[in-house]
Amino acid sequence: MKIEENFSLLNYNTFHLPVKTRWFMEYDSEEELERILHDEYFQECRTLPIGCGSNLLFINNFDGIVFHSLIKGMEITKETDDAVYLRIGAGELWDDVAAYAVSNNWGGIENLSYIPGETGAAAVQNIGAYGVELKDVIDTVEAYNQLSFEKSSFTKEECLYGYRSSRFKSEIDDPYKDPYIVTYVTIKLTKKPVYTLHYGELKKRFEGQQDISLQEIRDAVIQIRKEKLPDPAEWGNAGSFFMNPTVEPEQYALLKQQYPDIPAYDTEDGKKKLAAGWLIEQCGFKGKTIGKVKVHDKQALVLINLGEADGHAIGDVADDIHTAVKEQFGVLLIPEVKYIQ
Ligand code: EPU
Repeated sequence: MKIEENFSLLNYNTFHLPVKTRWFMEYDSEEELERILHDEYFQECRTLPIGCGSNLLFINNFDGIVFHSLIKGMEITKETDDAVYLRIGAGELWDDVAAYAVSNNWGGIENLSYIPGETGAAAVQNIGAYGVELKDVIDTVEAYNQLSFEKSSFTKEECLYGYRSSRFKSEIDDPYKDPYIVTYVTIKLTKKPVYTLHYGELKKRFEGQQDISLQEIRDAVIQIRKEKLPDPAEWGNAGSFFMNPTVEPEQYALLKQQYPDIPAYDTEDGKKKLAAGWLIEQCGFKGKTIGKVKVHDKQALVLINLGEADGHAIGDVADDIHTAVKEQFGVLLIPEVKYIQ
């Protein structure tokens, strides 16, 4: 177990903000995590479990304890003729899992290739791309409840998954303590892959092609992501800053009259999901630099720290975007990125 005081989170947030946390703890087993959760001093502290910090915006230094999982490993816990169940430590890099699945020809997460972050955070966030969400392959998620000190294994249904949301993602939004800390994620992968290629750009690339391999899909996804999204190692960013907003069909019909090209997708509950990137682009932000923050020129949903921006500056640009989209379209954008005040 490693506990550090006044620890720099520069390498633990992909916006590259030079913030500090009062305490930082890394653990490589559930026992170590349990020990620290029972520590009376730390029970009084604000807590924040993080992966790579690829979805966080630190507005200030963090006056509490940041937990980072070093629980690793990928283990087959069950195998049938059709499927393998893979139990993965929360601290595994998500893309290592995607690469491992593809190299074994196990289908289900090839479309989720190259998403930054770690597996525990991926399950909290229900990461999604190119027509697939992590929930589609989730079998169970194991997590500690740091308020009740209980460890539970949640079935997919009990995880209460929605678009970029889950029961682990503080709907209860307690800024003081996230109730859950995910330790292991078990996914069910298929040995007889069914490809998901309906998403625009993937569809275009594989149109008419027979005998597609999982590796080819992974390679195509990596290529598309590299073309559209800035590499966080080079440019501080957290992927999509906002979620794609959902509107009632009536509001969509009005918008469609005014903006015939507006992209929209049907949701399972009969609503319409709009493309936040399109709305932001229409408001003139795409490629714009505001102080030390840039709105990405290939995808307006991504805000980039050009080097010396702080959390306030990035948050201010996000506020400007929110206001402009609200004024022009009457649509409220909700950040996908979690603000840490
Ligand atoms: N669009 C624009 N201008 C832009 C950006 C997008 O007009 O600047 C339009 C596109 O032309 C397209 C539509 O908006 O018609 C959707 O764009 P895109 O396919 O790039 O996907 P997205 O909805 O912007 C979502 C996820 C991404 C994920 C992609 C691919 C959210 C918030 N974002 O983006 O996830 O990679 O789909 O499936 O749902 C992330 O969550 O960090 C992330 C990168």
